[in-house]
Amino acid sequence: MSDRISGQALSRRLTPQALLAGSGVLWFAIAAAGQWLFTYYILGAYIPRTASGAYERWNETGLIDGYVQGDWLGNLGFISHVLLAAFVSLAGVLQLLPVIRRRLPAFHRWTGRAYMSVAVFLAVGGIILIWVRGTRMNDWAALGTTIDGLLILITAAFTLRFAIARQIDKHRRWAMRLFLVVNGVWFVRVAYMAWAIASGGAGMSRSLSGPADILIPYAAFLIPLTLLELYQRARDSRSSAFKLVLAGVITAGAGVTALGVFGAWMMMWSPNIAF
Ligand code: HEM
Repeated sequence: MSDRISGQALSRRLTPQALLAGSGVLWFAIAAAGQWLFTYYILGAYIPRTASGAYERWNETGLIDGYVQGDWLGNLGFISHVLLAAFVSLAGVLQLLPVIRRRLPAFHRWTGRAYMSVAVFLAVGGIILIWVRGTRMNDWAALGTTIDGLLILITAAFTLRFAIARQIDKHRRWAMRLFLVVNGVWFVRVAYMAWAIASGGAGMSRSLSGPADILIPYAAFLIPLTLLELYQRARDSRSSAFKLVLAGVITAGAGVTALGVFGAWMMMWSPNIAF
């Protein structure tokens, strides 16, 4: 009897809405861990090599350009891009945590201003690195990352506009889009590793010119942005089937993200940490 009652209580709690919300929390927890591992990699790979003055050792992480002898402006642009990238990877997660927004609103506002300014700096600097410094393996993949950079500028503008206008629901929706496109380059790394592990490297080449290498920079913002829109529509919808399908898709996405973070940590990030 008591088993039946607790079973009923459980099924009342496991509503489609709760399962959908749970899948979102699961994905976010995995992504947050992956973002902070990426932050740890950036600091661990670049601070010791920069602080000791061994700038040519930046290139040990497997860069296209990185340190170039004699190009002090390009080198300065590169290292400021990289070190500020650690800030957005650390702070983006904090900005989206409801507990911080509720309990520390002043912290949320100041970190938010810094986050948006740094994201704009990274996007503009990244586009300059690609098209002025010439840091690209091929034009098609570089165009994908450039579109992601432009989306950072657009979503940052809307996030700021609705924050100033105190239209909090719209601000929140644009802030989530901004978070996803700022993480576009992180998604590239995670998707690259998830695909490499799952497919055994199909469509990939050392010169990064295979079909998978070219598609991943586009998929890295298109898929997360599409899933976010669908997630929000499912949350606002009355259809239980829609909610359950999306809960399944987001849970699968969480699995792919976990696989990619594991691969990136094992093969790209942890081997380069020099602390
Ligand atoms: C906004 C978030 C961004 C973060 C967190 C970020 C992070 C990084 C990191 C960590 C590196 C060093 C490479 C490595 O150690 O893996 C890097 C390099 C670079 N990033 Fe970004 N980046 C961001 C945005 C962008 C954007 C929007 C673009 C282009 C539009 C861009 C273009 C580049 C380029 C060209 C390099 C040099 C790569 C090389 O020499 O191999 N980044 N970025």
